[in-house]
Amino acid sequence: TSTGRKAYRGEVLHFLADPAKVSEEESYQYFEDGLLVINHGLVEAVGNAKDLLKTLPADVVVTQYDNGLIMPGFIDTHVHYAQSEMVASYGEQLLEWLENYTFPEEKKFADLEHGKRVAEFFLSQLLDAGTTTALVFGTVHKESVEAFFTVAQQKKLRMICGKVLMNQNCPDDLSDTVESGYADSKALIEKWHNTDRLQYAVTPRFAPTCSTEQLNKAGELLKEYPSVYLHTHLSENKDEIAWVSELFPDSDGYLDVYDKSSLLGRRSVFAHGVHLHDHECQRLSETNSAIAFCPTSNLFLGSGCFNLKQAEEFDVNVGLGTDIGAGSSFSMLTTLNEGYKTQQLRGDKLSPYKSLYLATLGGAIALDLEGTIGNFIQGAEADFIVLDYQATPLMDVRIKRCTTLTEKLFVLSMLGDDRHVKATHIMGEKV
Ligand code: GUN
Ligand code: ZN
Repeated sequence: TSTGRKAYRGEVLHFLADPAKVSEEESYQYFEDGLLVINHGLVEAVGNAKDLLKTLPADVVVTQYDNGLIMPGFIDTHVHYAQSEMVASYGEQLLEWLENYTFPEEKKFADLEHGKRVAEFFLSQLLDAGTTTALVFGTVHKESVEAFFTVAQQKKLRMICGKVLMNQNCPDDLSDTVESGYADSKALIEKWHNTDRLQYAVTPRFAPTCSTEQLNKAGELLKEYPSVYLHTHLSENKDEIAWVSELFPDSDGYLDVYDKSSLLGRRSVFAHGVHLHDHECQRLSETNSAIAFCPTSNLFLGSGCFNLKQAEEFDVNVGLGTDIGAGSSFSMLTTLNEGYKTQQLRGDKLSPYKSLYLATLGGAIALDLEGTIGNFIQGAEADFIVLDYQATPLMDVRIKRCTTLTEKLFVLSMLGDDRHVKATHIMGEKV
């Protein structure tokens, strides 16, 4: 029977593996005339339209998309919803930027209604840009996470968020305590973690704003609730790294501060990691931790160019992040454009396959959600997008010249942005 079933026909692309680990051709599936079959919000099948249509009941509605590409929704592995309205704040690098712009902005999130309004804006920007799942920083206020999850739940989204833990080196009215941070996090986990499609991330801001006691308490939460995430920042900026070694003289580098508090693991995501030593990559790899690569942010704050090759050499899980508001775009396509340029500056090539892998399946693996989101494997949640090559004249003329899939995908990753996202579907439903 066709109840609950629907299908989408057009060009289809999704990834099965990291192009750096298998051959490029083995890493993806591409169907020039493809069909994506959805059953009750989950992927039932993907393949060549002509083959699949033979067995599909005739009354299943097939929606056709021409001149575009059907792909899994993008996954943003590091972003601050509370910083949505302060993007493009001028002139500073990380530590001054936090002091001058970010902390004042985040104070507003003591107010639940403010949080809901910004969460609504943030999530509509994400969906417009084709991003269907994100790992999201709240602020120190428990209300910020309450607001975010309330809005994300209404939209039926798969989202991960957490209340910031910070109890030192920050304004007094933006500071929690070891005990209040623990209690607030625990209450939020109990209420929201695994409610519908929502999951919780224990979120110490970064080592400088957390005492050792607070980091240890975060580690205790991870032991009490093994399926929650750990989300923080790591080795983003040179001055930050020097400060961490002053604040934690007994640690063997930045990552070791987190390691000593038992914060590394399969569901731990560290944003940036721009300046990592080999031994730190080794440790991230052996603990199955992940890095969020945030190129627009790293360029905007002048933090540096992430060493993707080093992460590949040590087999570290990597996802892509916008890091709004240090990042400058909600679009993962724009983020890929700048990501490509950061690798050019290093003398390394970022192939369009690796790029689009990072934006989808790479993110799902970084978040330990492979099989649930990130590709069109049978049973995956049908969060997908439809890209439109003709949405802008420049993309249109340039795509028409492409003779290979590789060239086409590269052009898409360089010229694409939210204008090229024609439709976003959540659990099979167009939003
Ligand atoms: N490190 C600590 N807090 C932040 C933040 O809000 N943004 C970025 N980019 N880095 C940070
Ligand atoms: Zn960040």
